[in-house]
Amino acid sequence: MIYGVGIDLVENDRIEKIIQKWGEKFLCRVFSDREIEYCGRHAQAHIHYGARFAVKEAFLKAISLGLGRGVRLQEIEVVNEPSGQPTLMLYGGAQDFYQGAGITSAYLSITHTKKYASALVLLEK
Ligand SMILES: CC(C)(COP(=O)(O)OP(=O)(O)OC[C@H]1O[C@@H](n2cnc3c(N)ncnc32)[C@H](O)[C@@H]1OP(=O)(O)O)[C@@H](O)C(=O)NCCC(=O)NCCS
Repeated sequence: MIYGVGIDLVENDRIEKIIQKWGEKFLCRVFSDREIEYCGRHAQAHIHYGARFAVKEAFLKAISLGLGRGVRLQEIEVVNEPSGQPTLMLYGGAQDFYQGAGITSAYLSITHTKKYASALVLLEK
């Protein structure tokens, strides 16, 4: 059965400005090394960062939990399959919540344009 669904939309300009202002400090607080490597490979890295930021927020919506309640953004990671398909990897508090709630599967989809990035997360138990 469906446990929860979450959706989020990010303005890529906003992410670009934050990256310009805070640089590594922001990136390392929010994204995993693997995500930084993936986004950094793209000419318009901020669009891919925007998409990953949207995934993290969509996941929090799907579990109906705000930040600061045992889950950190960096514990929610997007890993792309060789086909390009994005998958979700969870660590620490995010993984504890997932397992504790009896969630068995996570589905994820991402889309982006120059201006916006959006993600949908569906959790099953
Ligand atoms: C996968 C595909 C649907 C992505 O669509 P798109 O309109 O190019 O790009 P979007 O902005 O909507 O989505 C991009 C995201 O799709 C996701 N994606 C990429 N490949 C994927 C795949 N095989 N399955 C599911 N999701 C995929 C990624 O998360 C990507 O974002 P990221 O690189 O930041 O992780 C598209 O590239 C594709 O392969 N289409 C198949 C049809 C085709 O070959 N058309 C070309 C001839 S008309």
